[in-house]
Amino acid sequence: MKIIVNIGQPSLLLPDRGFHGKNLISGCNVFSRDVYRFCGKIPTVLCYYILDMKIYFPDNGIEASAGEGDTLLDAIRAAGLPIEAVCSGRGTCGKCRVRVNGTEGLACRTAAADGMSVEILSSSEGQEILTDSGAAGKAGAPDGKAGAPDGKAGAPDGKAVAPDGSGAADGSGGAGGAGSRSGRMAIAIDIGTTTVVVKAVDTGSGEEVGVRAFTNPQRVYGADVLSRINNAMDDASMLSGIIKEAVGNAICDILRAEGAGCPGPGKIVVAGNTTMMYLLLNLRCRSLGLAPFEPEFAFSPAYDYAGVFQTKGDGSSVFKTKGDGSSVLPDGLASCPVLIYPYISAYVGGDIVSGLVNIERHLETGASPSYILVDMGTNGEIAYRNGERLITTSTAAGPALEGGNIACGMSGLPGAISEASYMGDGRFSYKTIGDKPAAGICGSGVISLMAALLDAGLVSASGAFTDEADRFAEDADEGPARKQLVIAEADGGGARVVFTQKDVREFQLAKGAIRAGIDILAEEMGELPAALYLAGGFGQNISLESAFRVGLIPRGLGGRIRFAGNTSLGGCVDACVDGGADAPLPSLAIIAAAREINLGSHKSFNDKFMDTMMFEE
Ligand code: FES
Repeated sequence: MKIIVNIGQPSLLLPDRGFHGKNLISGCNVFSRDVYRFCGKIPTVLCYYILDMKIYFPDNGIEASAGEGDTLLDAIRAAGLPIEAVCSGRGTCGKCRVRVNGTEGLACRTAAADGMSVEILSSSEGQEILTDSGAAGKAGAPDGKAGAPDGKAGAPDGKAVAPDGSGAADGSGGAGGAGSRSGRMAIAIDIGTTTVVVKAVDTGSGEEVGVRAFTNPQRVYGADVLSRINNAMDDASMLSGIIKEAVGNAICDILRAEGAGCPGPGKIVVAGNTTMMYLLLNLRCRSLGLAPFEPEFAFSPAYDYAGVFQTKGDGSSVFKTKGDGSSVLPDGLASCPVLIYPYISAYVGGDIVSGLVNIERHLETGASPSYILVDMGTNGEIAYRNGERLITTSTAAGPALEGGNIACGMSGLPGAISEASYMGDGRFSYKTIGDKPAAGICGSGVISLMAALLDAGLVSASGAFTDEADRFAEDADEGPARKQLVIAEADGGGARVVFTQKDVREFQLAKGAIRAGIDILAEEMGELPAALYLAGGFGQNISLESAFRVGLIPRGLGGRIRFAGNTSLGGCVDACVDGGADAPLPSLAIIAAAREINLGSHKSFNDKFMDTMMFEE
């Protein structure tokens, strides 16, 4: 018996947890349990796809279903559980660690089997996420560090949201003082590849009314934009449904917390890189993933909530109705205007445009501004403003600066090594986020450690372990890395943290790409800028001295570095405060002035990149 049933997109099934569809034949999706109910017997051709296995996640209190041929990563995704899956299941990142019946393994390399009891060992949940609104322009501290004196995420004027996203980490609930509120509210949203921040502000004062921040739930489909694009080349509905639901829930959560008298937002302003916005709008990503890498769709200047957050590509609703058929959404939300910052190109997105708006609104850049804005994510975006001129570029930095592709790399979670120094005789001292036992090493820790390795002569200018390092290095656990140094031993409840020769190479590629981008923009402008703004949470924790030492930032910019916080969110807040619901985004002049440089085809790039991958002696 052969049955092909078109019941819509697989994402339709995700909210039911435990059911998922598979492409049986192109264009058709099968929901086997419905087929079973309809036919009264199991059609043989579909037996392979029936979700008849039970997988247990005791720590999460969840029982999920899986079908034959599924991996544990498939089951975890379908169950909506968080897991680090940097390489999106290709088996190369080693991050999707699970423990099954006492044995550790990779979720994407473990076949699901009935009755398995699974512990997820690598989740990015619990990460502190910066929710300040950018553009405070904090100068590097005298010790060369950014951020709060205690070294935690969160600038002196910023807030780090608690791991559950329920409010500010200091327990203030994330609310600003109610005393100066005008009574009108708008919502600013920054959708990053790694994290998402939803922030309600008073439109009169710009004061924070409520905030929710969380790891982008699409992360289980890969850490970088290319992985997301690959999962949405011709059909973005699955990833689109995931982010619509997460952001929509955050908005409703803030409004519910405000109570029945809450007026609801007058408008919603969103920024993110081009891929994140394509996914939000359920636009296929083929044009972003294939040469010549030119966006196929432009954004409309006028969306509403129902169109962006509530409706999936197939017309179904992300949110269920109440028992009586009425909407669960707060009154008036469905028709609330939604403004989305336009992109400059496929890889220079509205997040950079929003960031430029934010910087020029709040900083004294003068009538003839001269500054570089760098957002160091997996796709490093860089813009150089000089008077009327604006040139931009993006670099494929990869996830190494966020702990991805590093043997013991991890996000900036409690327990991540954020600072390291060499004690001699192959021993290292380190600090971890939250002073927890070492669990791995995050991006700022990698930069700090690399500076220490260079200063100690353990890594050469070309990036090779030296003879001195080989005295202490051991054979790597696995793979082509061959040698590794032990940074932290497994004791006191902590994990054994190693740093391999391959990790050095991954770091060289990432920092070389970012630095080549900065150098080429400066070369195009003919001079170094008056200031360099580091955007995003990453910039908050790095040691400037280490960043200079490893060559990530030109030493010539010493004294000109500013930590700008979440400028993408800041530009959204600015647009929330400016004008009424009909006011256009303040981005037209920026888009008109921008000229993009494609690094891959730039005449200087190959030579520059070879140079910038190297280290100073
Ligand atoms: S090794 Fe499993 S997701 Fe990367």
